[in-house]
Amino acid sequence: MSSTKSTASEAPTGARRDTLTITDNRTGKQFEIPVKNDTIRPIDLRQIKLQSSDFGMMSYDPAFANTASCASKITYIDGDQGILRYRGYSIEELAEKSTYSETAYLILHGELPTQSQLKDWNYNITHHTFIHESIKKFLEGFHYDAHPMGMLISTVAALSTFYPDAKDIFNPDSRRKQTYRLIGKMPTLAAFSYRHILGMPFVYPDNDLSYTGNFLNMLFRTTELKFHPNPTLERALDILFILHADHEQNCSSTAMRIVGSSHVDPYSATAAATAALYGPLHGGANEAVLRMLVEIGSVKNVPAYVQSVKAGEKLLMGFGHRVYKNYDPRAKIVKRIAYEVFDIMGRNPLIDIALECERIALEDEYFVSRRLYPNVDFYTGLIYQSMGFPMTMFPVLFAIPRTSGWIAQWVEMLLDSEQKISRPRQVYLGQDLRSYIPLDHRS
Ligand code: ACO
Repeated sequence: MSSTKSTASEAPTGARRDTLTITDNRTGKQFEIPVKNDTIRPIDLRQIKLQSSDFGMMSYDPAFANTASCASKITYIDGDQGILRYRGYSIEELAEKSTYSETAYLILHGELPTQSQLKDWNYNITHHTFIHESIKKFLEGFHYDAHPMGMLISTVAALSTFYPDAKDIFNPDSRRKQTYRLIGKMPTLAAFSYRHILGMPFVYPDNDLSYTGNFLNMLFRTTELKFHPNPTLERALDILFILHADHEQNCSSTAMRIVGSSHVDPYSATAAATAALYGPLHGGANEAVLRMLVEIGSVKNVPAYVQSVKAGEKLLMGFGHRVYKNYDPRAKIVKRIAYEVFDIMGRNPLIDIALECERIALEDEYFVSRRLYPNVDFYTGLIYQSMGFPMTMFPVLFAIPRTSGWIAQWVEMLLDSEQKISRPRQVYLGQDLRSYIPLDHRS
């Protein structure tokens, strides 16, 4: 954010002030409000009143469409240019050169690790992958067809009962420990949920494998003594994890910050963030895209489907974004990975329907005028399906890597002296005071 942008009608040099002058046409009064980083503070509006006894003016911004709720140094997005950076590094370069584990370190610590820092980090993550045996008992209580996101939300929340030390949120050592545990255990909880749906025995973590290699081991190992993940699939999943690691103040990160602002432990806050991610307008969109492609069924049905979207009957899932008004840079990388995975696992026939949806949408006035482009979720489901994941696992595959981003956002919120418990205001439009009517007097 810059505070030195020019405006169309610039004040003469020398007269420039970083303020905003507001004229209240109801009273004719003028107010000069400070501008910093291209923002004003709504609390400065409170002085604008009709009468001195008034509460004062507030800003009204449903869904935070134009409200910055925090200052952050983690992730930068330029939605018009289609730019995404973690701690200043472009997503394209990280996807090409980094690993998820290293990227998670970067997101959390602000700098890329040295060799010894990375070794130490990997050691600590891999040595916190085991979960308490009692968690297996909860999982066994779920129906065979329980959605794995429901299981993940519940079991992450349950971790708080095993680690009461996590309540010590202002102790850096405690925060570090919970970070290892959360990043280490999310894949285990996810894989155990998957094995439960299949009725297969749980596979314990293998600490010799990489973060994603071990995850594939816990998901897919059957009778072999040692699981050897396919290196191309392992790398493909690792890149997808890099792409999903953080995305600034999205719905789930905001849930993490808001819930965390009450000073609850990080497991409970992560459960809330995971729940926010589950929705089809957020991380559940990858599952919804696949269901949509299956529903469309064939390339020839795409025009009719797009027509129903334009008529407002449906959404084109995996399209559109609050921030990106250009091609989501992650979607471009995902599209490339899809073909690498298809080379090994066989071409997913739904790709042709997806490509046709994209082709029509990118040419159609409805989508062009609204600047609707494919987002990260448009192609990920096709990859996950080709890798053998059931659709219900797709949002889980989003939640695992996003955990590092959630924790980074949570820590940044805790250490920000400007942050307090989140508590928005409302515009009350309901009834004024009225008298209670006894039941036998109501018509
Ligand atoms: N299909 C059809 N029309 C759409 C779509 C879509 N996918 N997305 C937005 N629009 C239309 C809206 O109907 C609206 O039209 P209008 O101006 O005629 O009313 C216009 O585009 C603007 O959309 P908003 O809903 O105001 O945009 P908002 O920023 O609130 O929503 C969102 C963003 C939720 C991502 C939306 O685009 C959507 O629902 N997309 C489909 C779900 C999806 O793919 N979610 C994943 C997002 S990425 C992520 O979370 C990881």
